[in-house]
Amino acid sequence: MKHISLGGSELSASRIVLGCMRISQVDDAALSKHLNTALELGINTFDHADIYGKGECEEKFGKILNSELKREEIILQSKCGIRYGNTAGADIQYYDLSKEYIIDSVDGILQRLGTDYLDLLMLHRPDTLMEPEEIAEAFDRLEQSGKVRHFGLSNFNASQFDYVQKYSNHKLITNQVQFGPAEPNIVNSGMQSNTPFDGAVDRDGGLLDYARHNNVTLQAWSPFHYGYFGGIFIDDSKYRALNDKLEAIGQAHGVSKSAVAVAWILRHPANMQTIIGTTNTDRLKEIAQSDAVNLTKPEWYSIYEAAGHVIP
Ligand SMILES: NC(=O)c1ccc[n+]([C@@H]2O[C@H](COP(=O)([O-])OP(=O)(O)OC[C@H]3O[C@@H](n4cnc5c(N)ncnc54)[C@H](OP(=O)(O)O)[C@@H]3O)[C@@H](O)[C@H]2O)c1
Repeated sequence: MKHISLGGSELSASRIVLGCMRISQVDDAALSKHLNTALELGINTFDHADIYGKGECEEKFGKILNSELKREEIILQSKCGIRYGNTAGADIQYYDLSKEYIIDSVDGILQRLGTDYLDLLMLHRPDTLMEPEEIAEAFDRLEQSGKVRHFGLSNFNASQFDYVQKYSNHKLITNQVQFGPAEPNIVNSGMQSNTPFDGAVDRDGGLLDYARHNNVTLQAWSPFHYGYFGGIFIDDSKYRALNDKLEAIGQAHGVSKSAVAVAWILRHPANMQTIIGTTNTDRLKEIAQSDAVNLTKPEWYSIYEAAGHVIP
């Protein structure tokens, strides 16, 4: 598995990241096999958030980390900033990027993971009530205490990213963003620029160009999804043309449709990582083969078009 430097830092991270959002349902033995297989495949980066499984995902991972894995051999990243309240039995969600909440959240993350540092902390979603001076102070405190080595953001548009960066002494090295063949919003607006097509709508303030210009590593989440967690496009009859295209290209390269879909993300010269969320170890091995596939430009564009996007 090829590795890249995260945002120009010393962190040498696998291009495929194993997302841990869905691991709370996996039993310990299967999870152990899954994580060890990921490492054997060269995947050294694991993505968490304090809200995944309401903390259970970090706890389960922490147990295996401390009994079987070598902390210094992996890159552990987590996120905070989404709060759950409890009103009339229902979870309500709001965002909190205050200094105190960020610092307290990291203590909870480290305790659940059973480690004394995170390689990378990201703020999960933009909080319109955020004050970048406070964020900067929180980052300073976390770095000085040795609890967090690097910082990034998640789901921030270009100008929000720039705004937070302006106040921070630490280079923000990553931004997580939804990206995959069915939801390629970050490339649409650039490619369909100056057209009347819907894809020309700029939903992220030119995030892709911003990231390339400023050497920020984009981490593509939910690569197999359509919509906002609408479902998986692999083998979905609504995406027949896309599936046929992935199948044909997969046969030419000797890999599965899922591997071609990830190769499509990895082919982009922005040097993104792909965060995959499978809990199925056979699927993990199959998807990891994408690292060896270098799609041609005609293949890349034909997948984009087969997913229903306009090439003006
Ligand atoms: N920053 C953010 O806001 C944000 C948001 C969402 C996710 N994330 C991160 O991104 C990671 C990945 O997200 P995700 O799990 O939604 O992404 P995903 O890899 O697109 O989806 C994985 C899910 O699809 C299922 N699946 C069914 N058929 C599949 C196939 N042929 N190939 C691959 N998967 C198939 C998997 O089931 P099996 O387990 O049975 O394989 C699993 O439930 C998360 O774990 C999290 O770390 C970040």
